[in-house]
Amino acid sequence: MIRPIVLYGDPILRRQAQPVRLDDPELPRLIQDLWDTMYNAEGVGLAAPQIGVSLQVFVVDAAPLQPEEEPPFKGVFINPRLISEGTACVPHEEGCLSIPGVRERIFRPDSVQVSYYDAEGQFHERTFSGIVARVIQHEHDHLLGRLFVDYLSPVRRQLVRKRLQQVARGLVEAPYPTRVYAH
Ligand code: NI
Repeated sequence: MIRPIVLYGDPILRRQAQPVRLDDPELPRLIQDLWDTMYNAEGVGLAAPQIGVSLQVFVVDAAPLQPEEEPPFKGVFINPRLISEGTACVPHEEGCLSIPGVRERIFRPDSVQVSYYDAEGQFHERTFSGIVARVIQHEHDHLLGRLFVDYLSPVRRQLVRKRLQQVARGLVEAPYPTRVYAH
């Protein structure tokens, strides 16, 4: 089911998400809703808080952004933990379905080692690099209540401030269903 995407300004995006019980009977539906909502919005990743659920789950399908020679990566991350990060930080333009109309160059480590459970409850410990590592870090941040605009320099931040306020007030059109926080 496609759910509305929670927009910037909603406190759920600033909350630390809770661990998931792997036998939670609601979990398969939550995962399906994340896929449906992400693909409908043409995103490459979506975290549960973005559909109003403060649980440690996100989905990634980085294929549209990956170079052709790379095997396409698609996966569900349940209770993920970042174990280590690469030492090199690289810039790349990022956006977020919760912050329509804002795209900014962000520096992040070029690789990341992460442990997580998949949709079948299997435990994984894997190192990712390139664009997949970037999407995973962006989505993992959502589970910590962090957003990509938090990494902006004070000058850049000042420049996008007005846009963020407009998003929070529901004044920015998005080509997918959204939900504005009622103050
Ligand atoms: Ni995001």
